[in-house]
Amino acid sequence: MNAKWIIKFAIVLAISSLTITAQAGTDDAALDAKTTAIIKRDFHDRGIAKADRVNQDELQATCSKYIDNLPDPLKAKLEAAQTKTIKWPSDGKYMGDWKAGEKLAQSGRGMTWSDKPDEPAGGNCYNCHRLSSMEIAYGTIGPSLLNFGKLRGNSVEVQRYVDGRIYNAKALNARANMPRFGFMGILTEAQIKDLVALLLDPESPVNK
Ligand code: HEC
Repeated sequence: MNAKWIIKFAIVLAISSLTITAQAGTDDAALDAKTTAIIKRDFHDRGIAKADRVNQDELQATCSKYIDNLPDPLKAKLEAAQTKTIKWPSDGKYMGDWKAGEKLAQSGRGMTWSDKPDEPAGGNCYNCHRLSSMEIAYGTIGPSLLNFGKLRGNSVEVQRYVDGRIYNAKALNARANMPRFGFMGILTEAQIKDLVALLLDPESPVNK
């Protein structure tokens, strides 16, 4: 009797946990739909900040769907598509002025409704990275970039790598938690060159 009872109990338990999981799935989907509806209702175009920013593109929607379990083949497919978006410098030169790059790395300005369309945005790099040895206030979401050029050198391959990274970080890692500065129109080609120089110029405080 005991064995029978245990089997019955196990079956009931398995069925009820399946039901609970299925229920949670529906609740998640319903909650997602509700949240999206609230966001779409409450966000409006204002100045340069347009409400279409809340619409996820294919990469963002896929990452939201899989969260930490993005399957490798899908990740590779997304990265290939992101790589195609990179616009390399038209004159084939990657390095600009590191002094201008340092100012951009420090600046978190731009993209808000009160910013004017002709005002250049900043890169906000210090928010996530350590860069110059002189700056002691920095975030740690991204890896430290101190001595980046000293450690990696500044060959054309490395310059191109950094340029592509800043233009569209998701080309190299679809799950990278770094904004796509060129792709999203935050930074211009010339600004990205200044940042490449900040990381790679031997005279830059990143490498001195
Ligand atoms: C919101 C945080 C965030 C901001 C802002 C940010 N990054 Fe990043 N960055 C990251 C993260 C996270 C990584 C690691 C990504 C990965 O694992 O692929 C990264 C990686 C990098 C790398 C590659 C490092 C390596 O070891 O090869 C470079 C170069 C870089 N960032 C430069 C910049 C520059 C320049 C800026 C400013 C224009 C910037 N980042 C702004 C989060 C950020």
